[in-house]
Amino acid sequence: MEYTLSIVKPNAVKKNVIGKIFAQFEQHGLRIVALKMVQLSLSRAQDFYCEHAQKPFYNKLCDFMSSGPICVQVLQGVNAIELNRQIMGATDPSQAEAGTIRAMYGDSLDENSVHGSDSPTSAQREIQFFFESEEILVR
Ligand code: CMP
Repeated sequence: MEYTLSIVKPNAVKKNVIGKIFAQFEQHGLRIVALKMVQLSLSRAQDFYCEHAQKPFYNKLCDFMSSGPICVQVLQGVNAIELNRQIMGATDPSQAEAGTIRAMYGDSLDENSVHGSDSPTSAQREIQFFFESEEILVR
């Protein structure tokens, strides 16, 4: 069993498709074991994406991620990190396979509708960034 952090980004919250995105997780066998809706301050968004601090898209990304509410959840499942990445599709929605979340709800590379952890190390850091251990209700 594995755990991964997933974020429904501000553009997808604005489009009112949180439920449709959750349905994709559930249809593919992932279970939501923790969730909350929050709005990140700019400094908290910068902290979350600190590994990208040197990238040219960092400022735009952090401005966008702090621009409105996001929905943050922990997903549980067999091979959850890789499975969630497959369900999300390619980072750039224009390259994402039909039927993936980013193909359906992404607007651009920046506003690509969802984030998912990319490794066990980042999953652990990202889950701890948003949740206390007692907020994760593993069944
Ligand atoms: P995400 O999975 O949230 O991780 C970092 C985000 O940076 C990524 O999704 C994209 O939305 C955004 N981004 C913007 N430009 C790029 C780029 N050139 N390469 C990768 N990610 C980018």
